[in-house]
Amino acid sequence: MAADLPNSVKQLSDSGAFSSLPLQLYASRDPTAPSDVDATLEPQIPTIDLSLLTGATPRERARMVQRLGRACQDWGFFMVVNHGVPEGLRQAMLEAAKKFFDLEEEDKEELRGETVLDPIRYGTSFNPKAEVGVRYWRDFLKLAVHPDFHSPAKPLCFSDVLRDYATCTRRVGMELLKGIWESLDLEENDMNKALKLDSCFQVFVANLYPPCPQPELVFGLPPHSDLGLLTLLHQNGVDGLDVEHGGKWVHVKPLPGSFLVNAGDHMQIVTNGRYKSTLHRAMANGKSTRVSVLTVVGPSLDTVVEPVAALVSSERPAMYRGWSYRQFLECHQGNQLKEKAVLELLRCRDHEDVI
Ligand code: OGA
Ligand code: NI
Repeated sequence: MAADLPNSVKQLSDSGAFSSLPLQLYASRDPTAPSDVDATLEPQIPTIDLSLLTGATPRERARMVQRLGRACQDWGFFMVVNHGVPEGLRQAMLEAAKKFFDLEEEDKEELRGETVLDPIRYGTSFNPKAEVGVRYWRDFLKLAVHPDFHSPAKPLCFSDVLRDYATCTRRVGMELLKGIWESLDLEENDMNKALKLDSCFQVFVANLYPPCPQPELVFGLPPHSDLGLLTLLHQNGVDGLDVEHGGKWVHVKPLPGSFLVNAGDHMQIVTNGRYKSTLHRAMANGKSTRVSVLTVVGPSLDTVVEPVAALVSSERPAMYRGWSYRQFLECHQGNQLKEKAVLELLRCRDHEDVI
């Protein structure tokens, strides 16, 4: 970034020195574009009751599995309630993330990673090295937490809270995956083997979106899909996430206490396009600081992920080539964030119109 500008958006926001955005760096939205938000549709993002998936009668479970499958098909997003993760832990995680961003800038600067697979990586925007003239209004912390656990040493409480949070959210993710496989008549064991889920690569992300002087000109994050199998998100009560549905954007207002969960690109690959990853974006706002924390559950890093044989047929040939999750991650995190660009690279050319 230019020498006279602070490195992080938090610093930029805190300084109060900018009543307008340094445009050469941040303009990423066209304020004159017609609204693409669907305000008429009362967003009915489906709700999944995890307790009816795990501790219920076979009939209740079957109903919830069906609901889960429909949610994946119709939205690619759903809210999970009765997930068993204590509210105290969820709040403590948000607090710890906020405290991390409140550290001295020097402490955070040390964690600006060199490569996209650094297990501890602090940053601003998405990938400034690949973004020419465009930045996003976000600071982030990304941590690899499974199979090996990584945490910054500061703030002091962070690592303990993260360890619990990572374990609990991984458990929720795995239960949801089981239900999702069941909704497609896939064998859990086969899927665990194909994706090596015992050593699943799990990433924790904390996002900070400070108050922005001109939120109409900038995205917190532009439209994109996530790269793993499932992402679980919760936030500090400030809304800002939009989800694409039926060609329009829908503002999401998550139920208090819920996780907002979405299918990622690897869900789309492994299910041969039966369940798709959904585009979403984070909006900046002028008033409040927004914090979101995410768990991204993916296959193990060196597994080559391909459409599973049970979902490939002569009528529905394999739509994607196999890549290791590591390759995908390097490509996704090492370039500009652009809708579903990396997934498109893997699409088999002769099946362009199947999807
Ligand atoms: C992400 C993301 C949305 C949010 O980090 O991939 O989509 O609301 N975040 O912070
Ligand atoms: Ni995302």
